[in-house]
Amino acid sequence: MKKSMKVGIAGLGNVGTGLIARLQDQGKLRLDGELVVSGVSARNRSRARPVDISDYAWYDDPVALAKSDDTEIFVELIGGSDGPAKLAVEAALDLGKPVVTANKAMIAEYGEELAQRAEAKKTPLLFEAAVAGGIPIVRAIRESFAGTELKSIRGILNGTCNFLLSEMAETGRDYDDVLADAQRLGYAEADPFLDVSGTDAAHKIAILSSLGFGVPMDFSQVSIHGVDSISLRDLQLAGKLDHKIKLIAEAVQTEFGVICRVEPVLLPKASPLAMIDGPLNAIMIESVHAGNYTLTGPGAGSDATASAVLGDLSALLSDQNTPVFGVCVGLLSQTFCPKDKISQSESKYLIRAELRDKAGALASLTEKLAGSDVSVDALLQDSAGDSEFAPIAIMTHNCSLAAAEEAVSRVNSLDAVHEPARLIRIESS
Ligand SMILES: NC(=O)c1ccc[n+]([C@@H]2O[C@H](COP(=O)([O-])OP(=O)(O)OC[C@H]3O[C@@H](n4cnc5c(N)ncnc54)[C@H](OP(=O)(O)O)[C@@H]3O)[C@@H](O)[C@H]2O)c1
Repeated sequence: MKKSMKVGIAGLGNVGTGLIARLQDQGKLRLDGELVVSGVSARNRSRARPVDISDYAWYDDPVALAKSDDTEIFVELIGGSDGPAKLAVEAALDLGKPVVTANKAMIAEYGEELAQRAEAKKTPLLFEAAVAGGIPIVRAIRESFAGTELKSIRGILNGTCNFLLSEMAETGRDYDDVLADAQRLGYAEADPFLDVSGTDAAHKIAILSSLGFGVPMDFSQVSIHGVDSISLRDLQLAGKLDHKIKLIAEAVQTEFGVICRVEPVLLPKASPLAMIDGPLNAIMIESVHAGNYTLTGPGAGSDATASAVLGDLSALLSDQNTPVFGVCVGLLSQTFCPKDKISQSESKYLIRAELRDKAGALASLTEKLAGSDVSVDALLQDSAGDSEFAPIAIMTHNCSLAAAEEAVSRVNSLDAVHEPARLIRIESS
């Protein structure tokens, strides 16, 4: 007999209504059974929705929906790391009901605690949609790559930031102007803080770190720098050096432990991640035994994200119950790289400064650098144009972050420096 499961959906926004539209037409999907929407919950019952929900029982309280006898699977699409989303997920898990969520903030900040509740009841907690929308990266790393050690997971995990950086570089418009455009086009929230500060990408890479490297789910271990510090001038100078600036989220295995960070990085224009423009996401997986892979696709949007939620629901219909982070929480015992060791790890860097356009300024800068522990690979002095300040870009050879930071403070001690010099890491691919 065809299996049938009753699904309660909390959150009827972009993702929730996208999911309901697909469930109302599920004959076209390849599901091993039937999913019946038994009840829904949102904040405002009278709000117009793009789908017909009149046949479903309404719950003002998502916790009541989670606990209802009519809910066999609970789908959380409210958002927010705690509050009603977390309370409802906890209620469902404590009753042994499988949970599907798209909530990266909640998994990144409370994933371990929730996984323990799920383990206690031997019930699944699935979150494919929480990382990179439609790209099936969670299941790929948790299950398909379980047979190989990983070296690194690096990617563009925030479409808003990628859109901002691509548009600024292509059109020569400044950050505020492009951000306003992104908000008009629906690529950025009215309050863009979570995106532009790097927090959203950090939530996602924290989750991938646990899945891929077996480190505990600990969001405080992610070092986070957003795109709000990147100026049009930085992008233009990067372009002249045949590079692009991208917000890269990465988890890298090192001899000191796993480095987990989000920051704007210079990439050669021909590298795979540099070629990802606009609101797309991309993830590169470097493995020890199975080669390297790049997955690209829409990292957000109603349809793509609903597809990821449906993938999880399909797994539940097939009775799959993989541990939440691939292994039991107690086995997430690998270590993060201590922060002081991160500053010893070597990379190339771009030091970007603006110097007063006067004789001897450049000579005094090179003199300052000569006394530091960095050696210069390339130096570009751009035209000052009508301004009295000329942009300077210095690309270093490999050096430690600590040495690069010391070089920056030497540069900043010069009288000729107009704006404090800044540091951007350079990756070779
Ligand atoms: N949008 C994407 O492309 C995307 C991609 C990946 C992951 N996600 C994740 O998916 C989740 C949902 O995102 P979304 O874009 O669909 O959000 P959204 O459009 O803002 O929708 C949120 C929904 O939650 C409901 N809600 C808010 N507070 C509630 C409460 N106390 N009780 C019950 N319902 C409540 C809202 O009700 P009302 O409609 O009545 O206001 C709304 O229907 C988030 O965790 C997000 O991070 C989204």
